[in-house]
Amino acid sequence: MRYIMVLNAKGGCGKSTLATNLASYYATQGKRTVLADFDPQCSALDWLSRRPADRPPIEGVEAHRHGLRGVPRNAEVVIIDAPARVHGAELTAMVRHAETIIVPVLPSTIDITAASQFLEKLAEVGRVERRQVRVAVVANRVRDNTLIAGELDEYLDGLKTPYVAKLREAQNYIRAYTRGLGIFELPEYLAWPDWEQWEPLLEWLGSRRSRPAVAA
Ligand SMILES: Nc1ncnc2c1ncn2[C@@H]1O[C@H](COP(=O)(O)OP(=O)(O)O)[C@@H](O)[C@H]1O
Ligand SMILES: [Mg+2]
Repeated sequence: MRYIMVLNAKGGCGKSTLATNLASYYATQGKRTVLADFDPQCSALDWLSRRPADRPPIEGVEAHRHGLRGVPRNAEVVIIDAPARVHGAELTAMVRHAETIIVPVLPSTIDITAASQFLEKLAEVGRVERRQVRVAVVANRVRDNTLIAGELDEYLDGLKTPYVAKLREAQNYIRAYTRGLGIFELPEYLAWPDWEQWEPLLEWLGSRRSRPAVAA
């Protein structure tokens, strides 16, 4: 079973957007997919409640109530949506649930500053230090040719943490969310630029680089 978490202490950076799109991606690949929501705001489960019955199924788990106990044994991929404001002991506990963590960061000074503090704290968590969990960063809601997008790019490039994708700001994410879909389920003529941008992230997730060397 594969456990992939989307995590960042900062709200609004795209955790639920990435989590729902990842769940949709693996479901459309025919994987038995679970979406576990640790956020009491339940955005990911709200998205799932909008999902049409004729789409590849995703099972929701109210992880904010029961942790991962409700995850069925035959699940192949578990996508975990984390809440904001996870710090200290709570961060250590949250990291325990995953073997792969994706940290989305927005092109804004507030978000870049918050991300650098968060990534420092995350790097100090024992399981991350011991490489029992692998972390990557993703730039999200990027508008090309803006100064701040360039700053974010430079900041993420300079990190030791792999920088695996740059996702644009697009109505497709909002359209897809409203319908309980992922961008992979939108028509190609609309969503192909987004599909292309997800490719390096999906490739990283499919590679050994995103998995711990020794089973945790
Ligand atoms: N790439 C994107 N393009 C456009 N809107 C986005 C994108 N990523 C996130 N959003 C929007 O930004 C807001 C915050 O995203 P969300 O995924 O809820 O963040 P978080 O879960 O980290 O709080 C939502 O309204 C979402 O639709
Ligand atoms: Mg969220």
